Amino acid sequence: MGDETGELPCALVVMGVSGSGKSTIADRLAQRLRWTFEDGDRFHPASNVAKMSAGHPLTDEDRWPWLQAIADEIDRVCKAGEHAVIACSALKRAYRDVLVHGRSDVRMVFLNGTQELIANRLAQRKGHFMPPGLLASQFRTLEPPDGTENPITVSIDASVEAIVDDIVRQLNPSPADRGTPRRNRS
Ligand SMILES: Nc1ncnc2c1ncn2[C@@H]1O[C@H](COP(=O)(O)OP(=O)(O)OP(=O)(O)O)[C@@H](O)[C@H]1O
Ligand SMILES: [Mg+2]
Repeated sequence: MGDETGELPCALVVMGVSGSGKSTIADRLAQRLRWTFEDGDRFHPASNVAKMSAGHPLTDEDRWPWLQAIADEIDRVCKAGEHAVIACSALKRAYRDVLVHGRSDVRMVFLNGTQELIANRLAQRKGHFMPPGLLASQFRTLEPPDGTENPITVSIDASVEAIVDDIVRQLNPSPADRGTPRRNRS
């Protein structure tokens, strides 16, 4: 594209428990960056959709082909020189390892918030049914990303715009330096 975004990742995966704001934040972040927004749920095989529709929880065996389909999409986007923001819960490290598969140009954005705050938001969410107990089980499953994954972690106790600002700031630690020759500051 000939711009100065060479150091930016080609894909950001917005992760967190159900109701943490993945779809909302990933969509808004994609608009801000002028990248493509994708909801990871769209990559479930038909068998998973059928299982979830019948109210049965997915097992990890069900999840591997889904996560692999998202990883394949990430590879396609990056190879094509495109950029995408993908919403995907990615609660466990093993799930994220499938998505990232060693790429340094794919970064996680972890939406960090308390169970109390998220329960309040879910209670107000329209058009979605959330079985009681699901949020608690999501928190039990959650393995927050640690420093070895180089995540962008943001507090969700803020407005959507402020959260997106925070992510963009962490993505570009020193925007003033972008596109300018490196200076020796010593
Ligand atoms: N920063 C915010 N401030 C206030 N409300 C928010 C914020 N972020 C998200 N919400 C609201 O919280 C609810 C949950 O958000 P959203 O549906 O984006 O979460 P999600 O992580 O995609 O959930 P799921 O995993 O179930 O798809 C929605 O009603 C959304 O409008
Ligand atoms: Mg969602």
